[in-house]
Amino acid sequence: MTLRAMTPADLPGAVALQRACFPPPFPADLLWSEAHLQAHLDRFPQGQFVALAGEQVIGSASALLISERNWEAHADWETTTGGHYFEAHDPRGTTLFGADISVDPAWRGQGVGRALYQARFDLVRNLGVVRFGTACRIPDWLEWSVAHRESSKQAYALAVVKGETRDRTLTPLLRMGLRYRGIVEGHMDDDESGDAAAILEWTP
Ligand SMILES: CC(C)(COP(=O)(O)OP(=O)(O)OC[C@H]1O[C@@H](n2cnc3c(N)ncnc32)[C@H](O)[C@@H]1OP(=O)(O)O)[C@@H](O)C(=O)NCCC(=O)NCCS
Repeated sequence: MTLRAMTPADLPGAVALQRACFPPPFPADLLWSEAHLQAHLDRFPQGQFVALAGEQVIGSASALLISERNWEAHADWETTTGGHYFEAHDPRGTTLFGADISVDPAWRGQGVGRALYQARFDLVRNLGVVRFGTACRIPDWLEWSVAHRESSKQAYALAVVKGETRDRTLTPLLRMGLRYRGIVEGHMDDDESGDAAAILEWTP
């Protein structure tokens, strides 16, 4: 596996990876197109990474810089990022905001996500910004809420933080050193997560 900055040649592979990583019920219109990824490269090339096995894109991570006010508002994904073209990117921003991380299902659990996160943490240090922040899907909330007859996403996330239950997305990100800061409701259309996300932060 090699990890490096994304280039325009990687875009078809990165788009194919999105489809493999976010199958239905995740809405297809929320996935990156080549035009979106090219806009990220134009705005903030340092924030875009890929992991490769040979020529194949097996992981990707997309991020932008956002202002302190934007981070502290913890608004929905669209507002925080400025949409799929990262129109909220602020070159003087203090938070490296992770808009997406995707690892090919066949390559999960083998350290690809951790390597992409290491690249993000190194970038936070190199840029001298305050933090890495993100809002993480909680896709196993739906099953848990039915089983526990409890719809609170906060209660679910705290159970994941305590290790009482595991979430296929939140658990790995906590293992990578991100800290849980709360829930943002109405984050994006995402039935499995009840449209919510867990606010996560890492500081150097
Ligand atoms: C979340 C995701 C990026 C993790 O990537 P990955 O390459 O599988 O993660 P790694 O192999 O680097 O694992 C990192 C840690 O999480 C743990 N982990 C990975 N998958 C796990 C799972 N399903 N349940 C519990 N722990 C898990 C690993 O054991 C490892 O911990 P350790 O090193 O302390 O043992 C990947 O599963 C993914 O692409 N998911 C779908 C897309 C998505 O939802 N992206 C996030 C949007 S917010």
